[in-house]
Amino acid sequence: MRRRYLLIPIVVLGATALYRNRLGAYLKQASANVRAFDLPTAGMYDALVATVLEGFYARVAGEVAAAHPGGKLLEVGSGPGQLAERLARETPGMTLTGVDISSAMVERAARRAAGAGLSERVRFEVGDVGALPLPDQEFDGVVSTLSLHHWSDPSSGLAEIYRVLKPGGEARIYDLAHWLWPPVRGRNRLARLAAASPFGEGEVEIVHWPGSVPAFVLLRLQRAREAQS
Ligand SMILES: C[S@@+](CC[C@H](N)C(=O)[O-])C[C@H]1O[C@@H](n2cnc3c(N)ncnc32)[C@H](O)[C@@H]1O
Repeated sequence: MRRRYLLIPIVVLGATALYRNRLGAYLKQASANVRAFDLPTAGMYDALVATVLEGFYARVAGEVAAAHPGGKLLEVGSGPGQLAERLARETPGMTLTGVDISSAMVERAARRAAGAGLSERVRFEVGDVGALPLPDQEFDGVVSTLSLHHWSDPSSGLAEIYRVLKPGGEARIYDLAHWLWPPVRGRNRLARLAAASPFGEGEVEIVHWPGSVPAFVLLRLQRAREAQS
């Protein structure tokens, strides 16, 4: 009888240890998924975050469409493709390429574009902004929203964006304001990044959304036109 009582704490301790290991592994995997925006996070992001940001995408799409009424546009870190769909609908003269490091996001974005009948003008591929799988001087414009703070090497990202832009082309990179994303550190970080990049300089604007909340920043980069000889 006493032996049976002894078994109880042993079983409880064993179960706790097993549970802790499993829980630890689960939490580790979940955090890796969140960081990589991989499944099931891509679906969750699409359903939750991207839906909340619809008004922000509408604003960005309006600004980008005004700057690039036609031509070839690249979206970096295109996520589930909500902005791409909006952009393509608003600017029928534009073709759009979306690049994202997460294959789950790329699949989701491609499905969205196909569902909207936009596949002829909108395509997505897996790629890292630090090594874009795209030719030199291919795009009239580049846009990116809420992705830069995920890039492991933002300097290479800006250098690659410069490389794929045509002379005279503009990149509009929207990201979280520094107070919303503490790891971004320092108010002037984006301006310093731009100054150290092949662009040589960039304009940083505070974006007030929603309403008057200064939640985002816009880094505008212009690739200089080549001098006529
Ligand atoms: C917060 S989500 C933003 C998605 C979308 N642009 C939006 O505004 O909803 C960040 C996206 O950047 C992508 N990303 C992160 N690092 C990247 C990199 N090095 N190159 C390309 N995409 C990257 C992620 O996979 C993710 O889809």
